[in-house]
Amino acid sequence: MTRKVLLTGAAGKIGSFFRNTYADDYEFVLTDIAEPEDTQGAPFTQADLSDFDAIRPLFDGVDTVVHLGADPSMDATWESLLPNNVIATYNVFEAACQAGCRRVVYASSINAVLGYPRDQQVHTSQPVYPINLYGATKCWGEALGRYYSAAHGLSSLCLRFGAVQERDSEWIHWDHEYVEIIQTLEDNASLIAAAVEAGADVMFGNFHGISDNRYKRLDMTDTKEILNYSPQDDAFDMARGRGNL
Ligand SMILES: NC(=O)c1ccc[n+]([C@@H]2O[C@H](COP(=O)([O-])OP(=O)(O)OC[C@H]3O[C@@H](n4cnc5c(N)ncnc54)[C@H](O)[C@@H]3O)[C@@H](O)[C@H]2O)c1
Repeated sequence: MTRKVLLTGAAGKIGSFFRNTYADDYEFVLTDIAEPEDTQGAPFTQADLSDFDAIRPLFDGVDTVVHLGADPSMDATWESLLPNNVIATYNVFEAACQAGCRRVVYASSINAVLGYPRDQQVHTSQPVYPINLYGATKCWGEALGRYYSAAHGLSSLCLRFGAVQERDSEWIHWDHEYVEIIQTLEDNASLIAAAVEAGADVMFGNFHGISDNRYKRLDMTDTKEILNYSPQDDAFDMARGRGNL
């Protein structure tokens, strides 16, 4: 049976790409505070995730919530993060729990661990180390996932996306400081789908999300072994024709 997937942040970059890629695979229900350019016929509700009563009905009958809606800026202020990342993420987990959804796939971020020195590979077993308030709010979401999975049996898979970019992005360049944390939109969409499809026994986890870059700032062992993530791109390979090496 086709899974019913509630997609928050559906008008955003990652949400639009994921929905377009998997339009035939899932029964999508879309929500965002902004209107998407194209819903491809999927039902859309314009709502603020910080308004619990406005969003709660959207969760009824949903199998998996893919929670992307947030302020994604590394420079985001507390005034924006409190409603859009902190309250919104609590509302999403609580509404999913009340509605009896099977799973929440939560868009965390590499910013939850970006404080470690750049020459160290980060493993999911290490403590969080956010370098900005935005990253700290992503740790809040991961903590909520752990709580709701343990206390309420709501499977909660947290994906620490790297720098998610189009394949032709200027970030995919030898000179760019973030080349080793690139995740192409194609690999990102496949990771979200892998998390949606992971076995019922996968109740919680923080999973790293970058492409198959030859140097991996984030260790990808769990993501590959537990979620069967199979990235296709290597940002260093893609940069070869573009940079000055
Ligand atoms: N793009 C990246 O490189 C990257 C990296 C790591 C994590 N992430 C995370 O992935 C998710 C999606 O990122 P994106 O790049 O698509 O960002 P985006 O800004 O393109 O999309 C986010 C969407 O969330 C919506 N939104 C924000 N606050 C909302 C609210 N209160 N109620 C309802 N909708 C709200 C926005 O309108 C927007 O459409 C975010 O949670 C972000 O933190 C992104």
